[in-house]
Amino acid sequence: MPPVRSRVDGVLAVMGETRERTLALVRDMTEEQLSRVVTPLLSPLIWDLGHIANFEQRWLLGSDDAELDAMFNPFKQPRAVRGKLPLPTRDECFAYMTAVRDRVAALESAIDPYRAELVIQHEQQHNETMLQMLRMMDDYAPPKGLWQVAGETGVMGAASETDQFATETAVAAAASPEWIEYPAGGYLIGATAEPGAFAYDNEQSAHTVMPAAFAIASRPVLNREYRQWVEGGGYRNLSDWSPAGREWLKSEGATAPLHWLIEGGQAFERGFGEPRPLLDDAPVIHVSWFEADAFARAHGARLPSEFEWEVAASYDPATGPGAARRRHPWGDGQWRSGLANLDQRAFGTVPVGVCAPTGAPSDMAGQVWEWTSSEFAAYPGFSPFCYEQYSAPFFDQGYRVLRGGSWATRARSVDNRFRNWDLPQRRQIFSGLRLARDA
Ligand code: AVJ
Ligand code: FE
Repeated sequence: MPPVRSRVDGVLAVMGETRERTLALVRDMTEEQLSRVVTPLLSPLIWDLGHIANFEQRWLLGSDDAELDAMFNPFKQPRAVRGKLPLPTRDECFAYMTAVRDRVAALESAIDPYRAELVIQHEQQHNETMLQMLRMMDDYAPPKGLWQVAGETGVMGAASETDQFATETAVAAAASPEWIEYPAGGYLIGATAEPGAFAYDNEQSAHTVMPAAFAIASRPVLNREYRQWVEGGGYRNLSDWSPAGREWLKSEGATAPLHWLIEGGQAFERGFGEPRPLLDDAPVIHVSWFEADAFARAHGARLPSEFEWEVAASYDPATGPGAARRRHPWGDGQWRSGLANLDQRAFGTVPVGVCAPTGAPSDMAGQVWEWTSSEFAAYPGFSPFCYEQYSAPFFDQGYRVLRGGSWATRARSVDNRFRNWDLPQRRQIFSGLRLARDA
């Protein structure tokens, strides 16, 4: 394993902690597992690792190795071909990661803070793609207890101990969802360019949106609700599916969310070790946009737009648009476990309300990425920077926006304004949904 620098203060410490987590995910894996092609949808893990180092090299050191740059350029090498590349071995890859990091560490105060944050969040986002892959491997079990911090009310490993979740807030949150109403009006969303603050180009510029009065569910859709729909013929009653959704259903042959296993009247989820019983009160996860859209229609509702979602996460419904915007559903403070199921602590979803004690709407950050009705597109005043290829190539290409972050998202990369996106047919991602409707 490459050494990790985590004792240096500031940016290098965060980079070190980020790297420590990346490596922890793959610590016990063999050469064969790291280079295995499991699905054309995802890269072999070794590609992700090399790409993480190459991205750091490019943005903090300046590009200087044409061969590696070509190998790890996502635009030159689409996911489906990455397994055929002459990828480095495990040791070579770790050595590359270390060599880049050593050169970056030598720069110290010359590191541009915006670029450093981009590099940090980039690595953290790739943790999630790696975890999507790890969930698909039938011989991967997460290293036990790695993230349990002494004294913290962590939820790691608790997903099978249902009793632990029978708290008052959890029981209340899992009850019939309430509709939380937001009046029509002007709401500020998005990020302003503030010196010293990090925001992606696609979050800018901040601007006022004017939604009609709407209502959003107090919590995401649960496994038990989704299962009821599945068992009631939701995937056979095509009238609730969009035309594109019907096409997808036919080609995919889907009968339930990805990774579900229904056996002998019992439902389990696969991945990360032995199948585990599906938790009734946890949010449904691994659904495509098409499934989310059909579920919403079948229940007389719709998906929220990304603006409605951001308004609900950012404004206290009691005070409304005039008041201060929150950076996180829990406020402006830093995440700690107990505020949201984030940061790979639980290695899965937990019942709603367990990690969201701050009141409605609950579980907006963490647990599952929530599909929205919005197509990924530029905000008014958009201009690409500093990585021109980060957002712009994906605008107006049929990608749908997801908001909130999942259990697999590092807490540092989570923000009410953050826009994730993926194609509507994708469901290896940690995606679920929350219902909305016109008020
Ligand atoms: C923001 C998650 C859609 O994975 O394509 C990683 C993040 N960009 N490397 C993606 C990203 C470049 C991006 N998403
Ligand atoms: Fe990347």
